[in-house]
Amino acid sequence: MTETVSFPQDRTCPYHPPANYRPLREAGPLTHVTFYDGRKVWAVTGHTEARALLTDPRLSSDRQNPSFPAPGERFNAARRFRAPLVGTDDPEHNSQRRMLIPSFSLKRTAALRPRIQQTVDELLDRMLAQGPPAELVSAFALPVPSMVICSLLGVPYGDHEFFEEQSRRLLRGRTAEEVHRARTELEGYLSDLIARKEQDPGDGLLDELIEERLRAGAVERDELVRLTMVLLVAGHETTANMISLGTFTLLQHPEQLAKLRADESLMPSAVEELLRFLSIADGMLRVATEDIQIAGRTIRTGDGVVFSTSLINRDGTAYPSPDELDVGRSARHHIAFGFGVHQCLGQNLARAEMEIALRSLFTRIPDLRLAVPAADIPFKPGDTLQGMLELPLAW
Ligand code: HEM
Repeated sequence: MTETVSFPQDRTCPYHPPANYRPLREAGPLTHVTFYDGRKVWAVTGHTEARALLTDPRLSSDRQNPSFPAPGERFNAARRFRAPLVGTDDPEHNSQRRMLIPSFSLKRTAALRPRIQQTVDELLDRMLAQGPPAELVSAFALPVPSMVICSLLGVPYGDHEFFEEQSRRLLRGRTAEEVHRARTELEGYLSDLIARKEQDPGDGLLDELIEERLRAGAVERDELVRLTMVLLVAGHETTANMISLGTFTLLQHPEQLAKLRADESLMPSAVEELLRFLSIADGMLRVATEDIQIAGRTIRTGDGVVFSTSLINRDGTAYPSPDELDVGRSARHHIAFGFGVHQCLGQNLARAEMEIALRSLFTRIPDLRLAVPAADIPFKPGDTLQGMLELPLAW
């Protein structure tokens, strides 16, 4: 009875899909799940079907569509607000995205590598000087992407405690009120920052956007505030989770870690494999704006659709032995960054950060290990981005 599987659910192991999703996998590639409010939503679990549907313009990302599915109260509360990029459809989406694409190109990201390496080195110097033990999330996994996105945008890192806390409340707040307050505070902060930068420009992406777009009237002030907020939040929580959960997962797979250590050129493929295997953003959402025939079924206008990234990335028809971590495999066509027009804008940056962070961590600390038993280490609940809440390490 796949109809009774509720979504999302907590993982039982931080790097595997929830055990209770098994019936979905068996019933795939397209089946149903039940959301918290009792609503039945299509669940996509097949790799081919996911790629077809994620490029189908009849599926909308517009969260203000009254039929848009909400997997929890927090999401329901947040969707009253227009979410730029990720919550919009073309042509609005396309015009916002075009404004940002040059700053996230492969070339611009490659130019950031020395700065990322320097950030990583300094954080590791400090961690080594103070430990062992060390708590990796606060000492390394969160500061790396946070410092990098701040410097890219031109947001003062000195304010990181404030916006990391607001992002946490946005993504994991317990009540609609808490989410609403976090959003208002972040908007106020960014609006003040933009006003200060108009008087006293710096050299970040935000300064460029103020100079080239805001002054020219090509973007509204409110839209710029919301765009910056999306970049700031998306830019650090995601990669931080990949660094912490990626470290945990490699430590739990010593034979794969040894393989990686023996051949550093495997690092780019290891990062792709970790993205596939961990699928930290599990549950992209869409609503159908027309009837769609696929896999012998009909998705009707107004139906909600959820993409279970963790199951799609473990579809046995796309990956042999999908439940095994294999740092040598070619996993590049995974959908951990989504697919189609909304595919992650920051993916080049995230890849560079993960590669540099994981390579440096395991090279500089050859005898890195968990400081407490794996079963005692807390990880995030199923209704948010997946990752470790804490990661105590020793060496
Ligand atoms: C490993 C880390 C990351 C993962 C797993 C990840 C995952 C994703 C996924 C799955 C989507 C698609 C959402 C959808 O189609 O509904 C997305 C979109 C997006 N991501 Fe990432 N992301 C990561 C890092 C980043 C970074 C570092 C940034 C930097 C700013 C970023 C910015 C964005 C933006 C702006 C979008 C919306 C794109 C659009 O709608 O056109 N992400 N990300």
